[in-house]
Amino acid sequence: MELKNKIVKAFEEHFGGKGTLYASAGRINLIGEHTDYNGGFVFPGAIDKVIMADIRPNDTDKVNLYSLDLNEESHFGLNEEDAPEQQWARYVFGVCRETIKRGGVVKGFDAVFAGNVPLGAGLSSSAALESCFAFALNDMFNDNSIPKFELAKIGQSTEHNYCGVNCGIMDQFASVFGKKDCLIRLDCRSLEYEYFPFKIDGYKLVLVDSVVKHELVDSPYNKRRQSCERVAKRLGIETLRDADMEALEAIKSDISAEDYMRAKFVIGEKHRVLDVCDALERGDLATVGRCMYETHEGLSKDYEVSCEELDYLNDIAKECGVIGSRIMGGGFGGCTINLVADDKYDHFIATAKEKFAAKYGHQPKIYDVIISDGARKIEE
Ligand code: GLA
Repeated sequence: MELKNKIVKAFEEHFGGKGTLYASAGRINLIGEHTDYNGGFVFPGAIDKVIMADIRPNDTDKVNLYSLDLNEESHFGLNEEDAPEQQWARYVFGVCRETIKRGGVVKGFDAVFAGNVPLGAGLSSSAALESCFAFALNDMFNDNSIPKFELAKIGQSTEHNYCGVNCGIMDQFASVFGKKDCLIRLDCRSLEYEYFPFKIDGYKLVLVDSVVKHELVDSPYNKRRQSCERVAKRLGIETLRDADMEALEAIKSDISAEDYMRAKFVIGEKHRVLDVCDALERGDLATVGRCMYETHEGLSKDYEVSCEELDYLNDIAKECGVIGSRIMGGGFGGCTINLVADDKYDHFIATAKEKFAAKYGHQPKIYDVIISDGARKIEE
């Protein structure tokens, strides 16, 4: 059954009657990884995989939530001490609290939600959930008076304050600002952004999921961020956005080898995002692809957020003549993102499945993605 119908039916069964439907999307990032919390550039887009929620105010000060995918309920109040136990419900609770902290209105509501963003694959299912509810609460209780950037920040603060991930702004930004057929270059220092049309005839974007569990909570993700902050502090700058290789070389002997490698990657990645945007505007996909492979190399060797399985998928892509391939998102598992010519697609997918299964005992999952709209109300 279509996602929307399933949710509407579950709402009727659980709460009776009808709510209002909202959705928000997962994201891909073409290039610019681990740059957001360093004040650099990112180049994401929302995808055609969503979290959808049916929501209705209930005239109380309590939230009644039902996760259709987990078949679990959660009930909580709207004060700080009402935080629910279940991790999945903390995303929604956090969004309520962060909206209230910013002076927004949140009242009690009933909601059913479900989605088709693969979990733990690095496609930001959590950002999709956060921005779906942030958008809905803004529409339902605040006459859409909270600016869009603030909605993204509500999601980001939810991760920081209720979920233990000290993430940057990229995922929630992409999820809120996503637009069909466009990637968005965001300058994470000035927060200026620009939409770039992304329709590449003759090529596809495909994600290959290693199915290695990706869990950023308690992961070395926060440690990567600390390394970058240490180096920036040593350089006397706010973020690594303002560093270059010359400055880094000059302090090399004063910092740990590990911190040096992390900063080296971030400085290189900053330039690659700009190169990729320029290349895309000239239709130069060879350069886009080359930069993607360089990013993979850096994420694997210097930033050390890859794993054996993802490196293997990257090697297979190279062998199959995929024009660009790299690990995507925070790392430590999840997917590679691949830019593949139509005539190489079938061979690549068949080879990836076969070789990966022969080595690791299971096939990778394949997701074709289309760049789509982000947070929205679904008009019936
Ligand atoms: C995760 C975080 C983002 C970003 C990426 C890496 O997805 O949530 O803020 O740092 O990792 O680019």
